[in-house]
Amino acid sequence: MAAPGIVALGIVTAALEVLAIAIIVTLLFALMGQPVGEGVIADILAAVRSIAGESWTGLAATVLVLVAAKAGIAQLYTLLIIRKKNKLNARIMTAAHARLVDMPYADLRARGQGELLNTAASDAWQLANAHYLLTRMAINLCMIAIFSIFIFALSWEIALMALCGGAAISLAGQLIGRAARDHGIRVRRDIEALYTRLLAAIHGARLVRAFAQEEAEKRRVTRAVEQLRKHTLQAEATRALASPLNEIGYLALLIGLIGFGASVGVPQAAAFTAIALLYRMAPQLRELEGNRLTFASLYAPLHALAELLTQPPQRSRLAAAKSAVGRIGTIRFDSVTFQPPGAAEPVLANVSFEIPQGGVTALLGPSGAGKTSIVNLLLRLYEPDGGAIWVGAERLDRIDRGAWLADVAAAGQDLDVIEGTIADNLRLGAPEATDNDLRAAARDARALSFIERLPDGFNTWVGSFGYNISGGQRQRLALARALLRKPQLLILDESTSAIESAIEAEIFSSVLNTRDGRTVLLITHRLNRAARVDHVVRLERGEVVTEGAWTPGLHVFPPLEERGA
Ligand SMILES: Nc1ncnc2c1ncn2[C@@H]1O[C@H](COP(=O)(O)OP(=O)(O)OP(=O)(O)O)[C@@H](O)[C@H]1O
Ligand SMILES: [Mg+2]
Repeated sequence: MAAPGIVALGIVTAALEVLAIAIIVTLLFALMGQPVGEGVIADILAAVRSIAGESWTGLAATVLVLVAAKAGIAQLYTLLIIRKKNKLNARIMTAAHARLVDMPYADLRARGQGELLNTAASDAWQLANAHYLLTRMAINLCMIAIFSIFIFALSWEIALMALCGGAAISLAGQLIGRAARDHGIRVRRDIEALYTRLLAAIHGARLVRAFAQEEAEKRRVTRAVEQLRKHTLQAEATRALASPLNEIGYLALLIGLIGFGASVGVPQAAAFTAIALLYRMAPQLRELEGNRLTFASLYAPLHALAELLTQPPQRSRLAAAKSAVGRIGTIRFDSVTFQPPGAAEPVLANVSFEIPQGGVTALLGPSGAGKTSIVNLLLRLYEPDGGAIWVGAERLDRIDRGAWLADVAAAGQDLDVIEGTIADNLRLGAPEATDNDLRAAARDARALSFIERLPDGFNTWVGSFGYNISGGQRQRLALARALLRKPQLLILDESTSAIESAIEAEIFSSVLNTRDGRTVLLITHRLNRAARVDHVVRLERGEVVTEGAWTPGLHVFPPLEERGA
C-alpha cells in the first residue's frame, strides 16, 4: 500500500480515538449527573445516542467497539509500514549494487573501499529506515492535526495556547536535532573507518600475517571501535535528552492549560475533553519529536547514499554509438594522450602505433611505461583525453561498448580470479559456455590437468585472493577465461609471468600460433622463444620509442636473446 493509504489509516485511527474520548467524557459527566452543555460534545453525543441508544451500557459498548476498531487499524497500518520498509530495503540494496557495477571505473577507483562498502551495505538499509520514519512522522502529524481540529472546535482559546506552547517545545527540539545530525556525520565516518580495517583484515589476510601485523591491526580496530563507541554514546545521549524535555514541557503545558481553561471560562465538559485529547496527543508529539531526531541523525548516511544512487552510469563519450563491430580490423592509436584522474602528469603522451589485424603485436617496455594503461583504454575502462583509437575505419568511442567487448578478451594484470567456483570464474568470459567448452579452454590454457586434480574439479571455490590455487594456476584460469570468449582481439598483459618457461612455451604454441586470424596483443618483460611475434611496439615513460615489424636485430627491452635471435 502506498504511503498516502497508510497515512489515511492513521487519520481514521485518530478520529476513532477522538470519538471514544468524547464519549468517555460524556459518560463521566452523565455519571456525575452534570449536563454536558451546548457545542461539539453535545452534538457528538446526540449522534452516538441515535445509533447506540440511550442506555449507559449502549454508550460503553460503543466506546469499546471504537477503541477495538482503532487498535485493529493501528495494528494493520503498522504491518503495512513494516512490509513497505522491507520491500524498499530490497529495492535499495539492488539499486546500490547496480550503481557500483555501472559506475565509471575511474570514479570507483577514486573512492576508498570502506566508503563504498559502507554506502552500498549499511547506508542502503538506512534509506528504508528513513522512509519508515517519514511515514510515521506523516501519521503523527495527521493524528496531531485531527486532535487539534477537535480541540479547536471545543475551545479555540485552549487550542491557541496549546499551539504556542507546542511551538516553543518544538523549537528546543530543533536544537537537539541539529546536534543529532552532527553526531550522525561523525558516527558514519567512524563506521567507514571500521569497514576499512575489516576489509584490510580480509583482503590483506596474507600480508598482515606475513608481516606479523596482527596485533597492530587489532590495535587499529580497537581504536576505531572506541571512537565509534564514544561518538555513538554522544549521539544517543543527545537524542535521549529529547524525551525528558518533551515530557516535562508537555506536562507543564497541560497544567497551564487546565488553569487557563478555568480562567477564561471554557465549559467544563469541553475543557475536560480538550485536556483529555491533549493528554492523548502528547505521546504523538513525543513520537514525532523522536522520529524527527532519528531522521536528523540519518542525514550523513542518506546524503552518501543519495550521492551514490545519483551517479551517472558509465557511458560511451559519444551518444550515437554503433552496436555492431563486425570484423576487428587493424587497431591504431592516433596521438593518444591519457591522464587518469589523480595522476600528476599524462601516463600516455601523444602515443601513435598500430596493432595489425590478425597478427601478434608485442608491447614491450619497462615497468610504469604505460602498457597496462593501453589495455585499460582498449577495455574502455577509461577514455583517452586526447587523440583517438581507431578500429579499422571506425573510432573506438563510436562503437557500442558492449558490442566491442564481446569480441575482446584480456588476461593478466588485475584480471585473475573473483570469489566463486572455477566454473563461475571461467563463465565470466562466456556465460553460455557448456561444460565441454570449459574443458577445451582450460586445456588450451594448460589448466585442465590441475583443475581435474582438485577434489571438486570445476566446482572448486577460489577466493579472490586465490588462496586455494597457486599464482601460476590463477594466471592459467584467467587465460582459459579469455580463450573461452573466442575473442577477435586477445590481450595478454603479463599473463604468463608466474608460469615456468616450458609451460609458457606450450601455452604460446597453442594460443599464439594457432589462432584463426585472431589479433593478439602480447605484453611482456620476458619474450618467450616460442612466441611468434609479427610486430613490436616499445614504450618508455608513456611514449612510443620503437615500432616496427619484428626483426632479429630490433632494439627492444629486454633483448630478445631468449628467442635465440
Ligand atoms: N588510475 C591511475 N591513477 C594514477 N596513476 C595511474 C593510474 N593508472 C596508471 N597510473 C600510472 O601510470 C603509469 C603507467 O602505469 P601502467 O600500469 O600503465 O604501467 P605498465 O607499463 O603496465 O607497468 P608494469 O610493467 O609494471 O605493469 C604508472 O606510473 C602508474 O602509476
Ligand atoms: Mg602493467
